[in-house]
Amino acid sequence: MATASVSQRRVTSNVEITEVAISPPNRREFLYYIWSASMFMLLWEFVGIGLWFAYPRFRVGEFGGTFSFDPAEIPSAGAAPFSVPTGRFHVSHLADDSLVVLYQVCTHLGCIPKWVPSNQRFECPCHGSKYELNGKWIEGPAPRSLDRFFTTLVFTDRTTLSSNEAGDPIPLEGREVSEVQIDTSKRILRNGRI
Ligand code: FES
Repeated sequence: MATASVSQRRVTSNVEITEVAISPPNRREFLYYIWSASMFMLLWEFVGIGLWFAYPRFRVGEFGGTFSFDPAEIPSAGAAPFSVPTGRFHVSHLADDSLVVLYQVCTHLGCIPKWVPSNQRFECPCHGSKYELNGKWIEGPAPRSLDRFFTTLVFTDRTTLSSNEAGDPIPLEGREVSEVQIDTSKRILRNGRI
């Protein structure tokens, strides 16, 4: 540590004046300061990294997190999908009374296909890929069908059904849905144009 030493002491009339000389740190002290500062910064980096991993990256209702919505929004079977741009998904209620949630992004080069009511299919404006209501590839350069999101349906009798590994449509079988949960952190890639 820097040292302070009493170098001079003077007495003038009734007042005693003490002059203090501060000497600069020597090499050993200087290295000690540098080492302490480095350890302090390293410790804060560890604390920061720990907090970064401790808190969830995504919040509910943001893309990358879980979405939950009113089942009244579910379209009738075979009708146009219900789209949620902030979640980047479409909810498709298929003619066989099953539900599937599709990732909106085209599997070719990432454009956003739109649902075209007159043709009853998704059509990509970039290179013309087309997909059925269930996301299945119809034509165009897209290498696979639209990807899907892991979904859980909660029914009014409190039973639940979730997506399987392949992301197959979940059968409703006439049961009344009380909640739809879509986990946009779990994208299920389609295996080819099936
Ligand atoms: S990005 Fe959709 S067809 Fe190319």
